[in-house]
Formats: sequence, structure tokens, C-alpha cells
Amino acid sequence: MDSPMTPDLHQQIERAARIIGRAKKIAALTGAGISAESGVPTFRGAGGLWEGYRVEDVATPAAFARDPALVWRFYNLRRAGLAAVRPNPGHHALAALEDRLGQGRFTLITQNVDGLHRAAGSRRVLEIHGTLRRVRCTGCAWTADRATEALPDLPRCGACHELLRPDVVWFNELLPPDTWQQAEDAAQTCDCFLVIGTSAVVYPAAGLVESARLNGAEIIEVNLTATRASSQADVTLLGPSGSVLPAIVQRL
Ligand code: OAD
Repeated sequence: MDSPMTPDLHQQIERAARIIGRAKKIAALTGAGISAESGVPTFRGAGGLWEGYRVEDVATPAAFARDPALVWRFYNLRRAGLAAVRPNPGHHALAALEDRLGQGRFTLITQNVDGLHRAAGSRRVLEIHGTLRRVRCTGCAWTADRATEALPDLPRCGACHELLRPDVVWFNELLPPDTWQQAEDAAQTCDCFLVIGTSAVVYPAAGLVESARLNGAEIIEVNLTATRASSQADVTLLGPSGSVLPAIVQRL
């Protein structure tokens, strides 16, 4: 472990490891906080992305209809930023947890669009807000993995010449239905639900915590601060996920 841990945090880590150790099925919901230690900016709070931009200008279908070049410049900056980032020990700990549990016992639900869970080796990953690495045609719905390659401000579909858009979910849009259904199933059938690095204010994702709880799961939260989800958590671990998650996995 890199960062100093208080005796209380140590105790909570032991508790979390006991809950995880006896769980038959685990689901985890991650947010921008898990990638913060990789250098990816979070959304809310000081230095967050939404401090420099208004959601309505860059992350809604109306914004894209009004000024697609502005929206693409915002996403192209974020895509370019991904070229240099790597998964951190928090991402790797979740991949190790999945390996340890084996197939069918671990589902990772992420709101992140940075692809770092897959890069860390996680296999069952539900990207409920899509991914920055893919583009989608607004005309024929063709999708393609363009990773972090440079794209123009107004990229067009090679097949039908309509505008491409980032394959992410914007505000006022529905989540991809199949992926969302699988996320709900995972939350409702797990006996331990991890909530990691998310402010838990954006729905429907945040509703998964309550859904898991109502179905009997024990809730473990990992965050730097208390959040809207904290009142539902059985264990709240206040510390950086890049230190806390490896510490839990080491104790299993
Ligand atoms: P937020 O920026 O709202 O919250 C990030 C959370 O991570 C905060 O609660 C921080 O305290 C916590 N955090 C920061 N660094 C951390 C660390 N090293 N270890 C643990 N926790 C840490 O990001 P999200 O909750 O992911 O949606 O935001 C949810 C959605 O709102 C995003 O998917 C995005 C956004 O607008 C869309 O764009 C549709």
C-alpha cells in the first residue's frame, strides 16, 4: 500500500474483505474516481470536467444538433487525453478479484467511458455510458472502434456520409438497453455490491445501489468522501481506490 491508512480504515478493509470473502456473487459499480489516480479528470468538484464546461453545451443530443463541431472538440480532447493513461492498481485489483471468483460470479458495471477496466484485464465489463473509444454513425448506426486516433471536428461515416458521434450516452438519452438490463440483473442477484469512486448522483446508474440493497446485498463503498450512496452502505471505506482495493484483495 502506498498511502498511509488510519487504524479505522484498516478495520473497515478487514470488514470489507470478510464480506467479499463469503459472497457468492459480486457486482461493482465504478465511476470517474477509480480513474482519477490514472490522471483522468472526474466530472464534479474542483478541477472536474463540469467546472470548465456546461453539460447542456457538450453532452446532450440538443448540443450536438446545435453545434456538433463544439461537441466533437470536447470529446476529441478527452479522446486524445486517453492515449497516455494507463490503468492504476484500483483497476488491476478489480481484474484480480474477477479472476479469483471465476466466471459468472463477478460483474463490473462502469459509468466510465475511458476503457481502463478492459485495459486492466477485466472481462465482464458493462459500459453503461458507452465508450469514448468507439464512434457511431448518426445515419446508419454503424459503429467502429477508433481508439484514440485523431479525428476531425466533424467526422463522417465511410458508408453513408452522415455525421459520426462518440458512442457515449449523453444526458437526456436512454442507456443501451441490453447492457442496462444486464447491469440491473447483476445488481439484483448479487450478495455483495461495491460502489467505487462515484458521486452516485446520476440516474439510473445510482439507482443500482438501492436495487442491490433491496435485494439483500451488502453494500461496500470506496470513495475519498461520503456520497449520496453512503447512507445505504454497510461499510464505507474513505480512501483512494488505488490503495484501498488492492488492500482488500490482498486480504482475501
Ligand atoms: P463524479 O465526478 O461525479 O464523482 C467522482 C467521485 O469519485 C467523487 O465522489 C469523488 O469523491 C470520488 N473520487 C475521486 N478520486 C477518487 C479516488 N482516488 N478514489 C476513490 N474515489 C475517488 O463522477 P461519476 O460519479 O462517475 O455521465 O459521474 C457520473 C456520471 O456523471 C458520469 O458517468 C458522467 C457524468 O456527468 C455522463 O456523461 C452521462
